[in-house]
Amino acid sequence: DANPLWGGRFHQGASSLLEEINSSVHFDWRLARQDITGSIAHAEMLGARGVIDPTEATEIIDGLRKIEAEIASGDFRFDPALEDVHMNIEARLRELIGPTAGRLHTGRSRNDQVAVDTKMWVRDAIDRLDGLLHRTIEAVVDKALAHHADVMPGFTHLQCAQPVTIGHHLLAYGEMFLRDRDRLREARQRLDESPLGAAALAGTSHPIDPAMTARALGFERATRNSLDAVSDRDFILDYLAAGAILAVHVSRLGEELVLWSTPQFAFIDLPEDLSAGSSIMPQKRNPDTAELMRAKAGRVFGNLTAVLTVMKGLPLAYSRDMQEDKEALFDSADTLEVCVRATTAMIEGITFRPAKTALDAELGNAVATDLADWLVNARQVPFRESHLVVGGLVKFLEVQGKELKDVTPDVVSAYDPRFAGLPAEFLSVQHAVQRRDSPGGPAPALVREAALAMRDRNDRI
Ligand code: ARG
Repeated sequence: DANPLWGGRFHQGASSLLEEINSSVHFDWRLARQDITGSIAHAEMLGARGVIDPTEATEIIDGLRKIEAEIASGDFRFDPALEDVHMNIEARLRELIGPTAGRLHTGRSRNDQVAVDTKMWVRDAIDRLDGLLHRTIEAVVDKALAHHADVMPGFTHLQCAQPVTIGHHLLAYGEMFLRDRDRLREARQRLDESPLGAAALAGTSHPIDPAMTARALGFERATRNSLDAVSDRDFILDYLAAGAILAVHVSRLGEELVLWSTPQFAFIDLPEDLSAGSSIMPQKRNPDTAELMRAKAGRVFGNLTAVLTVMKGLPLAYSRDMQEDKEALFDSADTLEVCVRATTAMIEGITFRPAKTALDAELGNAVATDLADWLVNARQVPFRESHLVVGGLVKFLEVQGKELKDVTPDVVSAYDPRFAGLPAEFLSVQHAVQRRDSPGGPAPALVREAALAMRDRNDRI
């Protein structure tokens, strides 16, 4: 039989193949709550404007609330033959209240309906993710405060570079996550327009009030162009793009945790409840959570690429292609939420080994720059020259199988007399981080301040 909702110009029912390729309710059921909220706002507006009889509007709204309860209790049965969540809910409304249900879709199309539903869904997803990130940053701040004075190696090219503090390293991630929160906030501001009222693409001649539905649904205003309103998926792309950048950050931290938890690094102990064992090697404690934090970025990038690719080249206004946006959106939201929760738990759960990080901070002649700087300050040697002097010193020690950590100031001044009077502390990484107190630097006092300031910034967003 022809479809009861749009079958007027059809003689035949749908092929099962159409249902297979076309039906979306197996994933877009996740818009059900937003769909009902949007429909209630629409019905209220239609009643208030006298487009439909106010008592009929009330009947419709009561029916929608009943459906909402059915869905919440798990009693609602979504039927793939009815295509999508919108048709499923409307069909059930007809079962519940009869032909009056048919008045709900006055001055509305599924095109503005799905756009407003998805916007509300993205808005909620942004708020959830933002709340989770707030907690991640709190965990970063707490851990950074606990280790604000503990020295660890700083790397460039993953080669020992200069000593930093553990707190300083952690706060670098805090900065990334604060920017992620900022990107989410911007995305939320940009999506703050309700497309409801654009109808299929060209608005309607019914005397509707899109500003009223916009207000009822918590949007700042209604969209200003009906074609754009139903064609726009920027709000999904904004979320997916912000999510992709966030996933980069989670992934980089995941990689560092993997590295740090190896016996070779041994900077941290992983929380037992977030590690996995091996089915054959009894001794193993593997960093699976960190590895998946690192890996999940792949699907988050893929989802962004998928929606960009679907949208590129689509003519205005709605095309069915756009239905492909939702699985990518839902998957990214689910993935990002579990990744951020895992990130928080990992930051809270890891135990640093400050004795080992301090020991490793001395590896690779990490105080070489400090020695070169001392020649600049105490002996007025131009930096380019002191760089060459210290490079030669490192080479000189290397052929003896030594590093700067193995020698005293006498050895250094024997190599070059300009080092005469070098205080021993200039060979110490502890001293090196103390003195690195330029703004944004790793000196313990600065890290404490920066952590407290970060807590404040995090609470004020
Ligand atoms: N399920 C559709 C989607 O997600 C809803 C909009 C359908 N509109 C249409 N004219 N076929 O895009």
